[in-house]
Amino acid sequence: FGSGPVVVAIDGPAGSGKSSVSKAAAQRLGYGFLDTGAAYRALAWHALEHGVDTSDATAVLEVFGDFDYAISLDTTDRWVRVGSVDVTTAIREPRVTDAVSGVARVAPVRKAVNELFRRLVASAGSPGVVVEGRDITTVVFPDALVRILLTAAPEVRAARRSKELTTQDAAAVAAALHKRDAADSTVVDFLTAAPGVQVVDSTHLDFEQTVDAVLDVVDSTMGAR
Ligand code: DC
Repeated sequence: FGSGPVVVAIDGPAGSGKSSVSKAAAQRLGYGFLDTGAAYRALAWHALEHGVDTSDATAVLEVFGDFDYAISLDTTDRWVRVGSVDVTTAIREPRVTDAVSGVARVAPVRKAVNELFRRLVASAGSPGVVVEGRDITTVVFPDALVRILLTAAPEVRAARRSKELTTQDAAAVAAALHKRDAADSTVVDFLTAAPGVQVVDSTHLDFEQTVDAVLDVVDSTMGAR
């Protein structure tokens, strides 16, 4: 498996609980955590700062030229920076969420950020890294030791997301979630498990049970190594 850190790759749609579950799993394993969606969000933020229409791929590619970002892999000290600006909370704003699918659609961008993800993981100072996204099990780390697709029924995902965003009404949240999934899934298929990828369906699980289910997959895969 090479000499770098163990990679636990986790993909799934928005609202599957992927980010919080992956972070908790990383914490319990003593691993680092890489939220790859945060990189796309940081680029969307950067594009918006430059007044770029993120549905314009050429314009996105142009601002990507001076996109300088850094991301922490430390579960206890998470931050994302663009240049010298800490964008950790700004990248969660609805205006960024609405714009992010546009930047994530640009193929040369994906290629470049994937390379960066691989470099970040290779140089992580932890025994392993949980890497979470949409195409981690298939494109970024297809040879990861552990590969998981975390799913949940669409209505459950929408309900969880609207609980997080208490200021928005449930129907609007569900509509926005489905719209983003539809846009994102034209770029990468994160709704079906590729061969060898293990599915964890959290529809009927609470948060702790989902983390346990993920760690069970990690344990059984590592045990069988
Ligand atoms: O997981 P998230 O909602 O923070 O992801 C933000 C966006 O980035 C999402 O709309 C899809 C995109 N994304 C992607 O295309 N590939 C990844 N590996 C991670 C995220």
